[in-house]
Amino acid sequence: MPRVEFFPAGKFTIVDESTLIFEAAQKAGVHLALPCGGKGTCKRCLVSVLSGDVVRFEHPPEDSPPSVVLACKTAIGQKDCRIQVQEWDFTNYDVDESYDFCDKKFFHNELLKPLVLPCILKVPAPQLDDGKSDVDRVNGELAKIVQVSSIHWPIAVLRMLPETLRTEQGRMLTLVYRSGDHAHLCAIEDKLDKPIYGIAVDLGTTTVSVALADLLSGDVVGIASGYNEQIICGEDIISRIHYARTQKYLLEVNSKAISTINRLISRLIEKNNISPNNIYAAVISGNTTMMHFLLGVTPEYLRLEPYTPAFYTLDYVFAEEIGLSINPHAIAYVSPAVGSYVGGDITAGILCTDMYNESGLSLFVDIGTNGEIVLGNRDFLFACACSAGPAFEGGGISCGMRAIDGAIYDIEFNEEGEMVKLDVIGDAIPKGICGSGIINILSKFLQRGIIDRSGKFVENAQNPNIKREGRKARFIFNTGYEGLPDAALFVNEQDIENVLRAKAAVFSAITTLLEFAGLTFADITKVYIAGGFGKFLNIDNAITIGLLPELSYEKFTYIGNASLMGSLNLLLSEKARTLQAELASKITYINLSALSNYHSQYTAALFFPHTNENLFPSSIKKITAYRKMHI
Ligand code: FES
Repeated sequence: MPRVEFFPAGKFTIVDESTLIFEAAQKAGVHLALPCGGKGTCKRCLVSVLSGDVVRFEHPPEDSPPSVVLACKTAIGQKDCRIQVQEWDFTNYDVDESYDFCDKKFFHNELLKPLVLPCILKVPAPQLDDGKSDVDRVNGELAKIVQVSSIHWPIAVLRMLPETLRTEQGRMLTLVYRSGDHAHLCAIEDKLDKPIYGIAVDLGTTTVSVALADLLSGDVVGIASGYNEQIICGEDIISRIHYARTQKYLLEVNSKAISTINRLISRLIEKNNISPNNIYAAVISGNTTMMHFLLGVTPEYLRLEPYTPAFYTLDYVFAEEIGLSINPHAIAYVSPAVGSYVGGDITAGILCTDMYNESGLSLFVDIGTNGEIVLGNRDFLFACACSAGPAFEGGGISCGMRAIDGAIYDIEFNEEGEMVKLDVIGDAIPKGICGSGIINILSKFLQRGIIDRSGKFVENAQNPNIKREGRKARFIFNTGYEGLPDAALFVNEQDIENVLRAKAAVFSAITTLLEFAGLTFADITKVYIAGGFGKFLNIDNAITIGLLPELSYEKFTYIGNASLMGSLNLLLSEKARTLQAELASKITYINLSALSNYHSQYTAALFFPHTNENLFPSSIKKITAYRKMHI
């Protein structure tokens, strides 16, 4: 059997002949990215065969060197192979986050009622004459605090009861989860001042964020975020569903979701010196497919007509059942979904808005790998989703990266149209371009006549940063930065096309939903923008490229990662949990693909800012002003 060695890591494995290269990599513990889930369509899972023989079932892009093959469509032959790969190290992109954006925080101004309620009891001593058991007496005390008709005692908790009850002469801490008329006793402790924590999780397709909160004070202890390890199984949802079509690969995608969350939990507990055993509650929000992956339930039927999920909502699950590295008896609450592509991230996210209270029409746009849109007011809420791809989260473009230190978030030109400065997060050496960066850069390119409205570099643009090789052109950023190889950072026309498609998907979803509701942009009084852009999102530039509608600037509010903030609210506030259930039942899910005009709206939006100039009069003016003077 051939031996396959991967470089630069030097990891190796022995496989059967005909094993695909990506399968050999997995066996060797090498993380290779399969952007299209291994369908052979994206041509981006490129690896270089240094020696040995391989069998190609699909070919790489035409201009690839002869040694380059597709990892998903090339099999190991009879001889030993040495293969050069680019491996992911997810921890390189993990960061600590702040939570300053969303100012609507129930848990700061409402009575703190966390998902798992810590209750200190003084249980009466047993009496000879009443024959009450330990459980009877604890239940009697608990009933004074939580009004329920039944209390479930897990056996593991019951086994601890006799000793725990007697250590502090009947005083004990109980951790109770209440669901309707029923309570579940998660844990009992004789240490009355034990710190109690919970986590809120935004399980995004590309990025995952975890917030750690003190359930006794409601304080947020820390937030960590990083790439979802599932990325290597497909960049977007459909690719990932394709990848997970067998039980073996479904389990792999499931375990990558869990290991991503656990990786971020470890970061938080190490930094804050907290025991994972002290975390008793988790709220997890994500799109419908992510929730299926989280629980290891096949999402296959979400992509097949009539697009039926296995579930929209669950009461609760145990942390132990899904493999979270927190107290095994902790309760995990999964935010309810409302449609096959509108999930718990949206029912959590709209908690951070006032749209459900107001008479005026609001638009909520959550821009991630999936774009989700909610339109409505206190009388109605319509929601839809579109696939934007990972470009706005720093994926799917040649030099894309997360919005962390080293990411280019803007570019500055002088009057002559020459690049004079790169704005880089943390003032660091530039390493890549983040999602808000690509929006700002393309807006400037349009305004400086570097690209045209179809996203192509302008033929006669005399810009020294544009390098042309045959019919291909790219804009190179890193000229003059020490320690960086020339031309390491660039944007090419393929990247621009990916952004064009992404913005067209989001904008056409907005226009289609408005049309469906019989409304126009003029009816909108408020626009809430959610997503992981951080403080670098420039609304003006997002309008100039046609991602957002051209409305007056005051109508826009950027609320940051609404899914995470909503999840924190759900973790800490009963009011938020009740409200979310009400909103989930009120939202009408609109399947865009079933609407005949969606495709034509999408095609019309495949132009910067749009083919219909009347929708973007000011942006068109800005784009043409410089060109009139200089070109
Ligand atoms: S072509 Fe191999 S993952 Fe897309």
